[in-house]
Amino acid sequence: MNQKAHEPASLPVPDADALAQSDGLLARIRDEIAASGGWIAFDRYMERALYEPGLGYYSGGARKFGRRAEDGSDFITAPELSPLFATTLARPVAQALAASGTRTLIEFGAGTGKLASSLIHALDALGVPFDRYFIVELSGELRERQRETIAALAGPLAARVEWLDALPRQFEGVALGNEVLDAMPVRLFARRAGHWHERGVTHGPDGTLAFEDRPFAEDGSAGAAQQAALLARIDAEAGPGFDYVTETHAAACAFTHTVCTMLTRGAAFFIDYGFPRHEYYHPQRAQGTLMCHYRHRAHDDPFLYPGLQDITTHVEFTGIFEAGVETGADLLGYTTQARFLMNAGITDALAELDPLDAARFLPAASAVQKLLSEAEMGELFKVVAFSRGIDETLDVFVRGDRSHTL
Ligand SMILES: C[S@@+](CC[C@H](N)C(=O)[O-])C[C@H]1O[C@@H](n2cnc3c(N)ncnc32)[C@H](O)[C@@H]1O
Repeated sequence: MNQKAHEPASLPVPDADALAQSDGLLARIRDEIAASGGWIAFDRYMERALYEPGLGYYSGGARKFGRRAEDGSDFITAPELSPLFATTLARPVAQALAASGTRTLIEFGAGTGKLASSLIHALDALGVPFDRYFIVELSGELRERQRETIAALAGPLAARVEWLDALPRQFEGVALGNEVLDAMPVRLFARRAGHWHERGVTHGPDGTLAFEDRPFAEDGSAGAAQQAALLARIDAEAGPGFDYVTETHAAACAFTHTVCTMLTRGAAFFIDYGFPRHEYYHPQRAQGTLMCHYRHRAHDDPFLYPGLQDITTHVEFTGIFEAGVETGADLLGYTTQARFLMNAGITDALAELDPLDAARFLPAASAVQKLLSEAEMGELFKVVAFSRGIDETLDVFVRGDRSHTL
């Protein structure tokens, strides 16, 4: 997803059932704010807005992924754009499985199940031996959609797909997460007159939610000291002397740390939009990257229809890199999505389609253009990969690797 911002006032209004669901979630969040003395940190709000059982955006019934607002969806991701994304990803995945001598895959946050369906077909077509394709999905509703998609598209290979309720303690194989890190809760911070404040959530007398900044103070805990060190680094990157709003990504870093710790042999690939730290905390990015998606329109009001819209931020890849290598895993590579997909042969895959078969060729060509274009997903989206027990450089990282920018 990568859309231009819109005014919330111009957005379509949800139907009565959806509004009732959102009001139910809002009431629970208001209760928590009241019980917490009138304020909760933004990461707690984001966690409930996206993952509150049955009511959150990802855990409730919202349609989420799709091509158009008219089908009730809010955004589109690479695997939804074209099966060529998964077919192309199959090549580095196959190389990582072979180089590590492993035969298992695990995908986090598998969306509609299209990536899994196309990837297992592509691996099978390449003659790659694999035993299981595990999916870790927080949302019961998405699990059901994944089951339906995979049953419809993967044929007998569907029998190799298995859902897990939690991350395994140890894993040998290839792990994948497309647009998962950007969906993890973030804390917001605002620097005003040279002093950092944590931007949290409160509610007014009419019950509507609003931002409220509280001075950030170290309380002697290890977590606060770590946060203060990160804010000092942001000061150093962004430069002093002007007001600045941004976010920090402890949950995404902790997730990466957990995944790289559990990876005893093999590789983990994360694909997402974002920047390395020096570009992320740039003086010109003074409003942060918090963004919401509703019916294919992007805007910046996270309090609009809680539970009915996506809330996301860009990924800070230097933090992800540090979290991964801290576990002893190796950085396998870091590059743009365009470079990764081109190195993996996406244009060759497109060339194999018959241009006279317009119904197949034209959508595929348009999707490839979107995946690769600098103005769309090609440059903003990055791929970072970690490994354990792999000695060779994967072909996708031989040309255009940007690890030195992390
Ligand atoms: C933007 S969607 C991307 C879905 C899909 N990968 C795609 O590309 O279409 C984010 C997904 O990440 C999942 N997610 C967030 N935190 C997660 C976690 N800790 N473990 C597994 N999945 C998670 C969400 O439930 C959601 O399915």
